[in-house]
Amino acid sequence: MFLSLSPPSNSLLHSCPRFSRLRFPSPILHISPKSKTQTITAAVTTAGSSQSPQSTDDALSSTSSSFRTRPTHEVNVLVVGSTGYIGRFVVKELCRRGFNVIAVSRERSGIRGRNGRDEALCELAGATVCFSDVTDADALHRSLESLDLPVDAVVCCLASRTGGIRDSWKIDYEASRNSLAAGRRRGASHFVLLSAICVQKPLLEFQRAKLKFEAELAEAAAADAGFSYSIVRPTAFFKSLGGQVETVKAGKPYVMFGDGRMCACKPISEEDLAGFIADCVMDDEKCGRILPVGGPGKAVTPLEQGELLFRVLGREPRFVKVPIGVMDFVIGVLEFLARMFPVMADTAEFGRIGRYYAAESMLFLDPATGEYSAEKTPSYGKDTLEEFFERVIREGMAGQELGEQGIL
Ligand SMILES: NC(=O)c1ccc[n+]([C@@H]2O[C@H](COP(=O)([O-])OP(=O)(O)OC[C@H]3O[C@@H](n4cnc5c(N)ncnc54)[C@H](OP(=O)(O)O)[C@@H]3O)[C@@H](O)[C@H]2O)c1
Repeated sequence: MFLSLSPPSNSLLHSCPRFSRLRFPSPILHISPKSKTQTITAAVTTAGSSQSPQSTDDALSSTSSSFRTRPTHEVNVLVVGSTGYIGRFVVKELCRRGFNVIAVSRERSGIRGRNGRDEALCELAGATVCFSDVTDADALHRSLESLDLPVDAVVCCLASRTGGIRDSWKIDYEASRNSLAAGRRRGASHFVLLSAICVQKPLLEFQRAKLKFEAELAEAAAADAGFSYSIVRPTAFFKSLGGQVETVKAGKPYVMFGDGRMCACKPISEEDLAGFIADCVMDDEKCGRILPVGGPGKAVTPLEQGELLFRVLGREPRFVKVPIGVMDFVIGVLEFLARMFPVMADTAEFGRIGRYYAAESMLFLDPATGEYSAEKTPSYGKDTLEEFFERVIREGMAGQELGEQGIL
């Protein structure tokens, strides 16, 4: 999660379903009976799956870390958060590698629920799509049960779309926990969690929620030798750094806090991060580990990001430097208001999120020195920020939108 230093307008705080032949033990389309509590229909559909997920009885009993000895086409991976910025690419990458992917989606997914079933099926082509509700443990379990497929590994890319306080606990903690429980009931012996590097210095509610779940994951592995996890803590995503491309292209200056050198990150593309996450499914070396990861190249400060953007545009750099104290003042006001009007608690939290990303580096925080270290932040992948800027200048920010508050 990251604050985009988006243009002033955004404030400084800122198909076609491929119904090819479906191959799994149950009928093509399951509609599970509605229970008293279940308002969302649990249904499963395979969108252009090229693999036949390993079927139930033999597989439920055989699932253990031994799944790594099998070829990918005999490994079933459950992906939750499959419709998010990273989740979509994780599904695509796992399918490309030949895994049988079971992707959980809401009936309406995407930012502000703009996608219906058909769009989800199209986006998740190649996976078996399970329409369910990760916030309801029983509903999720029933949906997966009705699918009648075992699960070898779970990949969790869930995240609150707002970063609000309650929503963070509901998704980053509870829904992730529901997914762990549901996956394990289907036999999963490995859990890959997409977390965030910023949890190293937890000052925000979503970070605390993520850390609590990380700790429970580690406890689960400590209690059961047959269960393992990989916790992936990436630095900034490209989308988080793209917020000013279009405004700068339109002739406006690049806005940054302080002298633009207060923080740095090693941004990583969706494809590269999806590749790293997919590696975590089969790679024994990545088990039981917390894995910070950034993209290729050196760490970049906001000043360097701005300079790069102007260079790519072939323009003279123009910057607006906003003192960080402005943000502190705004947060002070928001926190004061939130004390009087609890409904403003999330607004104050969004202010704190903005402040955090304006000042904290998204790099490995070296416990030995207490300093962020670019050198100790592992690099992975090949996509560069320069290529990303070039693409956004050419094609716009479609697919790179920030979440519902425009900050995460
Ligand atoms: N942005 C960054 O620079 C950055 C950097 C490092 C780490 N991260 C971390 O990466 C993770 C994923 O980020 P992302 O950008 O891929 O997230 P995202 O695009 O916001 O996707 C979130 C996923 O969670 C699902 N979800 C959210 N609320 C839900 C609900 N109430 N019920 C069911 N599903 C729900 C979404 O489903 P719908 O599509 O149905 O909404 C979506 O699949 C986060 O944990 C984030 O902290 C981000």
